[in-house]
Amino acid sequence: MLEATDLTKTYVTAQGPWRAVDNVSFRIEEGEFFTLLGPSGCGKTTTLRCVAGLEMPDAGRIAIGAQPVFDGAARLAVPANRRDLGMVFQSYAVWPHMTVLRNVSFPLEVHGASRAEAEAGARKALGLVGLAHLADRPATLLSGGQQQRVALARAIVRPVRLLLFDEPLSNLDAELRVQMRAELRDLQQRLRATSVYVTHDQEEAMGLSDRIAVMRAGRIVEVGTPDALYLRPRHPFTARFVGQAELMPARVLSRDGGAALVDTPVGTLSAADSLVEAGQEAGLLVRPEHVELLDGGAAPATNTLDGRVLSVAFLGKLADHEVAVAGHRLRVQTLSTARRRVGDAVRVHLPPARCIVLPVDAGR
Ligand SMILES: Nc1ncnc2c1ncn2[C@@H]1O[C@H](COP(=O)(O)OP(=O)(O)OP(=O)(O)O)[C@@H](O)[C@H]1O
Ligand SMILES: [Mg+2]
Repeated sequence: MLEATDLTKTYVTAQGPWRAVDNVSFRIEEGEFFTLLGPSGCGKTTTLRCVAGLEMPDAGRIAIGAQPVFDGAARLAVPANRRDLGMVFQSYAVWPHMTVLRNVSFPLEVHGASRAEAEAGARKALGLVGLAHLADRPATLLSGGQQQRVALARAIVRPVRLLLFDEPLSNLDAELRVQMRAELRDLQQRLRATSVYVTHDQEEAMGLSDRIAVMRAGRIVEVGTPDALYLRPRHPFTARFVGQAELMPARVLSRDGGAALVDTPVGTLSAADSLVEAGQEAGLLVRPEHVELLDGGAAPATNTLDGRVLSVAFLGKLADHEVAVAGHRLRVQTLSTARRRVGDAVRVHLPPARCIVLPVDAGR
């Protein structure tokens, strides 16, 4: 449905050229909710603006459905207003001198609908975002969340091929953000609109997306479903950025099929999934929430270590522990009801099935 191939965008700055998007390719299926996720400055907005036609790439190709909308080699660039897109930005961007209804009906009139048709269409879109009752209010007399819904209604009021979102929820307070996230997902599933969403918030990306592209420094590092990126990251940057994790330095001693035995600061460990060959330096991923603190009784023979609790942070539902194991600080997260005390001696188990050996991060 949307295909971007070898997209590159360089900005000219006072410090010289800056490659904001560096050879980015991705492909999105019809009806899919696809997210560009990455830290600030990694090129998410620039990529989205290239798709929208608001930014002119240096090179590459973009096709929406069967229509090429940009082709650097062929010098083709379809203007933004002819790409048939709906966009929602971080700033609410409602038109302040108009009512809610006019804010949403106006785009339809611009595209040739009569006033009556436009208003009927706008009322339907407002109904979809739960604002029908506020249609006649001046748009500025709305809360942030309501203004963002107006922007959303405006983006979906015409049938568009593609919806583009650039951090649309980041100006909302935490509670509203979570509520709007659920509504957005619900709306997208009802409309089956193909969507490209930009955020630096990994929880938001996981909660909304069918697939996520993890970006760093102008490039896509890895693309996958939320649970694949979380449970089976193939790149150390993904491991740290999607969910939390520090990678332990490790050296692969032997590798048998996908599994490996690795030497780490806490001793020799067994990992079910290794992307690294024997003899190589690597990073061992075990997420803090996958590490188990054992209570007495028989302990598993492999990957069980003795440690002492250095610190405990109560986080409400969960508790974060720092556990000293062989002089190394290991992070362990448990339900707070199962939390230990500072100074407790504990047996720590790192389930081999949850241990992934990843290459050393050679990133910029
Ligand atoms: N108009 C511009 N001129 C020069 N450099 C720019 C311009 N716009 C963006 N950049 C630079 O390009 C890089 C990518 O910017 P972009 O806005 O795409 O990042 P982003 O991933 O959306 O970040 P954020 O999460 O902070 O919004 C950044 O280093 C930024 O400073
Ligand atoms: Mg941005």
